[in-house]
Amino acid sequence: MDLKHFIRDIPDFPKPGIIFKDVTPLLRDPEAFKESIELLKNAASFWDFDLIVAPEARGFIFAAPLALEMGKGFIPIRKPGKLPYKVISKSYSLEYGEAALEMHKDAIVERNKVLILDDVLATGGTIKAIAEMIEEAGGEVAGILTLIELSFLEPRKKLKDYQVKALITY
Ligand code: PRP
Repeated sequence: MDLKHFIRDIPDFPKPGIIFKDVTPLLRDPEAFKESIELLKNAASFWDFDLIVAPEARGFIFAAPLALEMGKGFIPIRKPGKLPYKVISKSYSLEYGEAALEMHKDAIVERNKVLILDDVLATGGTIKAIAEMIEEAGGEVAGILTLIELSFLEPRKKLKDYQVKALITY
């Protein structure tokens, strides 16, 4: 199954000039969604880790079933003001603007091995911010895995210190 067939380009969203990769057709198709989780599992099996960390909102959709499937814990990274306990915060630049993310302070403890998962790797700003939060908490980034990579935005330039894998590259 070619998962690319289930990913749709939306021009000028959320801003003029941005071509948005829309995964909702993939999520709507049970076979394609299942296949995406199986392929993510195969790719992630390469690394030794205990926890999967993912940002809202679309990162959650793929990370939660993968965590269950692989028997790992799941740690949510959220936009500011959403997490109820003490947080670590990090500002970062997005393909289409500025943003900040938060993680619970006690989510990661010393030497936890972590997989970072997301739907799309674009500029790499989101994942770089997450990696920094994990390391500040004393964790180790075992690997970075995404469904989609927009290689023309050169996200790996920001992520030179890490092992990065993507299932689908544009
Ligand atoms: C999108 C996407 C990634 C991020 C990638 O999330 O789901 O998390 O942007 O961009 P980057 O590599 O340039 O940082 P978005 O902020 O749109 O959040 P959403 O999933 O809540 O819509």
